Amino acid sequence: MGNILSVGIIGAGGIAHAHMNAIEQNDNIKLAAIMDIDTKRLEEAQKRFGGRIYTKLEDILKDPEVEAVHVCTPHNVHGEHVVASARAGKHVLVKSRWH
Ligand SMILES: NC(=O)c1ccc[n+]([C@@H]2O[C@H](COP(=O)([O-])OP(=O)(O)OC[C@H]3O[C@@H](n4cnc5c(N)ncnc54)[C@H](O)[C@@H]3O)[C@@H](O)[C@H]2O)c1
Repeated sequence: MGNILSVGIIGAGGIAHAHMNAIEQNDNIKLAAIMDIDTKRLEEAQKRFGGRIYTKLEDILKDPEVEAVHVCTPHNVHGEHVVASARAGKHVLVKSRWH
């Protein structure tokens, strides 16, 4: 790992845009890739923030530049996405509501 953390975003919706805006303003983090099942959202996010885009979870998790992921998908898929990301050796940032 270098001095700059290279991250991937899983889910390119509303909260992901807040994350990508924050990443853009932080010199210690770089956006490497974005994944979403919705191609239109994915392309819009890439146009605004850059990075490689993927429509399959396994593909972003195979990206060697992605050291950490921000899980920004709906709650019902958080478990699947967090476990798969950890198994792929990625650091994981996720915020879930358990109530
Ligand atoms: N929007 C907020 O202000 C806010 C604040 C705090 C927490 N959150 C949490 O963030 C999460 C996402 O919320 P949001 O508002 O960004 O929702 P959103 O609907 O705007 O975005 C979710 C994105 O996830 C994608 N997605 C859905 N299933 C997927 C899958 N299996 N694989 C990959 N991508 C998939 C959708 O296509 C969509 O682009 C939720 O858990 C929500 O509670 C949102």
